[in-house]
Amino acid sequence: MMRPRTVNLLTVIALSIALSSVLLQSPHTSVHAAADQVTFNRQIAPIIYNHCSSCHHPGGAGPFSLLTYADARRWGTVIENVTQSRFMPPWLPAPGYGSFADDRRLPDEDVQLIKKWVTAGMPEGDPADAPKPPVYSTDWVLGPPDLILKVPLPMQVPPSGTDLFQNFILPVPITQTKYVRAMEIKPGAPRVVHHANIIVDRTASLRHQHPNDWQEGIPGMEVMFDSGDTFDPDSHFLFWKPDTPALIEPEGMPWRLDPGNDLVLNMHLKPTGKPETVQATVGLYFTNKPPVAHPMLLQLEDDAALDIPAGDPHFVIEDHLKLPVAVDVLGVYPHAHYLGKKLEGYAILPGGEKKWLILIPNWDIDRQSVYRYKSPIFLPKGSVIYMRYTYDNSAANIHNPNSPPIRVRAGNRSVDEMGHLWLQVLPQPIPNSDEDPRLLLEQAWMENRLSKDPNDETALYNLASVKMSESDFTFATDLYRRILTGSPEDTRTLTALGTALDKDGNWEGAESEYQKALVSDSQYADAHFDLAQLYFKHNSYAAAEQEYRSLLVEDPKDAAAHNGLGAVLLATNRIAEAQNEFQAAISFDPDSFDALYNLASIEASDKNYPQAIGLLQQALKQKNDADAHQLLGSIYIQSGRLGDALQQFKVVQELRPQDPLPHRQLAQLYDQIGQLNDAIRELNAALALEPGNADDWNNLGVLQARAGNTAAARKDFEHALTLDPQHAAARANLARL
Ligand code: HEC
Repeated sequence: MMRPRTVNLLTVIALSIALSSVLLQSPHTSVHAAADQVTFNRQIAPIIYNHCSSCHHPGGAGPFSLLTYADARRWGTVIENVTQSRFMPPWLPAPGYGSFADDRRLPDEDVQLIKKWVTAGMPEGDPADAPKPPVYSTDWVLGPPDLILKVPLPMQVPPSGTDLFQNFILPVPITQTKYVRAMEIKPGAPRVVHHANIIVDRTASLRHQHPNDWQEGIPGMEVMFDSGDTFDPDSHFLFWKPDTPALIEPEGMPWRLDPGNDLVLNMHLKPTGKPETVQATVGLYFTNKPPVAHPMLLQLEDDAALDIPAGDPHFVIEDHLKLPVAVDVLGVYPHAHYLGKKLEGYAILPGGEKKWLILIPNWDIDRQSVYRYKSPIFLPKGSVIYMRYTYDNSAANIHNPNSPPIRVRAGNRSVDEMGHLWLQVLPQPIPNSDEDPRLLLEQAWMENRLSKDPNDETALYNLASVKMSESDFTFATDLYRRILTGSPEDTRTLTALGTALDKDGNWEGAESEYQKALVSDSQYADAHFDLAQLYFKHNSYAAAEQEYRSLLVEDPKDAAAHNGLGAVLLATNRIAEAQNEFQAAISFDPDSFDALYNLASIEASDKNYPQAIGLLQQALKQKNDADAHQLLGSIYIQSGRLGDALQQFKVVQELRPQDPLPHRQLAQLYDQIGQLNDAIRELNAALALEPGNADDWNNLGVLQARAGNTAAARKDFEHALTLDPQHAAARANLARL
């Protein structure tokens, strides 16, 4: 079951802003700084070092350095102008409409100080007051990364021409799942790279689409990915901008990288006036701790409504989404192209209160950014999130790429428009339920998409995935069939439909869909794999073996296929061969739970207990699985480690609270180690779950008798006999009493 998700690589076209060619320098007069005078050293240097130098330093994104008094003085009047007009530092959100971390906006006092300083003739002041200028190194700011990835081939950016968008593909050479707590990007040519979106391509699909030229990168503002076969929605904004090289994730929220994933760097490149070479390097910093909180990205948009008449100065699109669960909003990423003017995002709470998420009064595509909130914005269940974007397609819009204006519709070229509002939200757990709240959000989001376009295949597919994980296979089947009406040969949907039918108990139907997928693409590995599993489940071992073997011909390192083949061999009593297959699976994927478990069960039946124990311990690091604990417990009993066995069965009991079996096993163990009262308690617990079990009543009677509770024992034996009058042991026990 593969799950496609459209990832809109958000795109930006830079607007070139001419630097004033004539700089008005104030005449140099030596002004002596009085005590109350604003001087560079006392008030201005701290402002510039804190708010400007991060871009304005050699090798930074700004067009010149602002690190010394001489620099500041040379640019003084322009600095005054650009801070008064709020052109610098670059910052789009209006103050008071959401409080953001790394807010670049200069406080009003600082703007006034700069004005005063320039008016006073830009005095330098007392060198004793001078703060140390910041130092920018070209080294990794977070220290040596755990893994460094480099774009395979450099790209030449011509000195002039239009902006370029290039998707650079970085295969990630890891053999085990990693959790990324931080990422740092060195663009290679800071002035050329305007910003970059980083996307995790879970299935390396972009690379597979361009087998021969992927090293050079793929041009385009937007790319589509297949996001893989598990419900794992995109969860992090991986957005790089020049003055923040390091993306550090909040504690407990690293993002996952699996073997076989690629990183795709979608870079916006802007000619600088001279030829430049770009070859980005990415540094990854790992943590051993998997995420404890699972955020999710949501998108509002209405691109279909974008059809802006030439000359229209006020064209509005809107979208809204009602939240089925409470969320904390962590960040926001508004996106439009050149005609976007006013971008509003807000929520209406169930009580009617309006909460602003962001307001950008004067959109500038060149300055787009992800904005993270200083502290998360809580939105209760039932809140409705709105986006309302206003576009200006008149000649008065200085960013308008068309002169005279023309009709503009949605699209991913720079002359087309877009209107997206992305939110990073952390859903709150659903009260009294262990359902993943992300599923409900995903469902609400996809239903919203379908209400705008009932044939939106991605939304149909994703909604079907939600239904699959809720075990509503009939609904899922219906959704897949709707996709197939429009795209009857879509292998991924045919395969997914096969899975849905199989889970719904219709295995002939499933087989036929998988086979249709293979007619459409005979190499489609997922269909081969699912078909193999289907045959295996229905004991068609020869057919299953054939599918697995054909998968291994295609890819001899396919660990899942080795494991599947091993299971077939085991089921048909070819134990030694099965063992080889499981070993092969583990050698290609040391984290394969199934292969570790299967090999352990072979070792256990060969009485190789230490090996079996080692394998199971390894398997349990991957998955806290009741069967594995169960098997481990039984092996401990075989090897006389009763205390360890007890621990394992306790875990099984916690994992399967409705299952009487672990209680029974615990009762037996307690009995063996002489803890009679504990044994009685466990049997009672088993009977609470399955009161009709005559054996348990009989065994409880035996324990009670041994504990000297003759009356209780008699009752238990009688109970066993009412349930099963033929119960010989109970009858004998009662007689003996
Ligand atoms: C995030 C990076 C960044 C920061 C922070 C930043 N600048 Fe800039 N600055 C730029 C870039 C890039 C340009 C070139 C114009 C453009 O692309 O917007 C620029 C241009 C300028 C210009 C030339 C404007 C003109 O019209 O010729 C001045 C002056 C300036 N910045 C001053 C400042 C001051 C003062 C600060 C701090 C208060 C500051 N900048 C902070 C990136 C930055």
